[in-house]
Amino acid sequence: MSNLAILGGEKAVKVADGDMFTWPIVNREMEAAVLDVLRRGAMSGTDVTKKFEREYADWYGVKYALAHNNGTASIQTAMFGVGLKIGDEIISPTITYWATCLQALSLGVRVIFADINPISLCIDPDDIERKITPKTKAIMVVHYLGHPADMDSIMAIAQKHNLKVIEDASHSHGSIYKGKMAGTFGDAAGFSLMSAKGFAIGEGGILLTDDRTIYERAILFGHYIRHDEITIPELKKYSGLPWGGYKYRMHQISAAVGREQLKKFPAEMEEIDRAMKYFWKQLEGLPGIKPHCPGAKSGSTMGAWYCPHGHYVPEELDGLSVERFCEAVAAEGTYCIPGCNPALHKHPIFSIIDVYGEGKSRNCPDVPEDELPINQHLPVAEGIQSRVFSIPWFKHFRKDVIEQHVAAFRKTVESYKYLIPGDNKKKSTEIRWGLSSALKK
Ligand SMILES: Cc1ncc(COP(=O)(O)O)c(C=O)c1O
Repeated sequence: MSNLAILGGEKAVKVADGDMFTWPIVNREMEAAVLDVLRRGAMSGTDVTKKFEREYADWYGVKYALAHNNGTASIQTAMFGVGLKIGDEIISPTITYWATCLQALSLGVRVIFADINPISLCIDPDDIERKITPKTKAIMVVHYLGHPADMDSIMAIAQKHNLKVIEDASHSHGSIYKGKMAGTFGDAAGFSLMSAKGFAIGEGGILLTDDRTIYERAILFGHYIRHDEITIPELKKYSGLPWGGYKYRMHQISAAVGREQLKKFPAEMEEIDRAMKYFWKQLEGLPGIKPHCPGAKSGSTMGAWYCPHGHYVPEELDGLSVERFCEAVAAEGTYCIPGCNPALHKHPIFSIIDVYGEGKSRNCPDVPEDELPINQHLPVAEGIQSRVFSIPWFKHFRKDVIEQHVAAFRKTVESYKYLIPGDNKKKSTEIRWGLSSALKK
């Protein structure tokens, strides 16, 4: 007989969550910093934000940081910053949150999708090469769910074809690729800092670059109040109004939280890393489930393990669907959701929708129907929903609690045969376009 909770047994997780998953961790210093901004009426100022930018840039060891009101804005600004213009093409991974690339359309830039690597879940460098055309100007890289992308290969391709690289580091605060911080490889990086992210300060985003021209173009685009910082004559000449027509200034309450978050983030990140590694260590060797993280000897890390996932290998569990598996795991009192972000190339916005009233899709104005992104076949991405699942994102290293969550997964794997008769979920993983994967827990 099975003791699975979904079949009437006792739950594996008996402890209450308490603050195990509470994020961000708010301390007195954060509260005081927020109150100071409020009491000074400095919410729309830039004094706190500029300090936060300097400190964030120093953490990453780069020259310039420009804070934004959200990550989407910081990425769009990076696109303008590196010089993308009407008719250019960018290559983006299809498995990511939409804000890696969708805002390019408002710049008149076309988005071409590439497949992902099945292990890292990040953009597949071989597919980038296949997608390059004379119009390609930049590669968008996402260090997906904290896992660094294959930057050696990507930078080599960029160099060979003279392409810009923009890193969307929204999932990878603190992640390291072969000893160097993810977000410092390309020409510019944009980060989301919204409340659910690894580095969470409220709505906010930040752009990093070592290139003065990119920095000044970014200011020009959406930060009119800071046009006095612009020194390049051809940019300065017509400054004063934001060239993008956008106002992307960060709210100073976010900046104040960010300054305090920076002080405690290394310790928090280390504790999360210990907890997540402990979780996976306990599950080592079980069939059907594997960690999504770089190997211990790779020199790469997962930073704060944003929204962590595991790989699911149904072949090792007699074809049990990931949906049925997750349903059973979740019934044990832990957190487990099938799939990840849906493949963006399947959304009509990139193929047929006439958003701008141009009489045709801006992304595909003259693309034959069978070549539209929506009709493209990116096999790894299209199959990935049945091969990944989310796991609990522990914020504290508490062995006894983690072990109960481990037991939920272990028990389910060990009793998987009992789940097969009730497995009618094979095609049910719902598409969750708007979600940045399985948020929160
Ligand atoms: C990969 C990725 N890029 C960009 C964004 C956009 O950031 P924001 O929500 O701060 O605009 C997010 C998350 O929301 C994200 O997950």
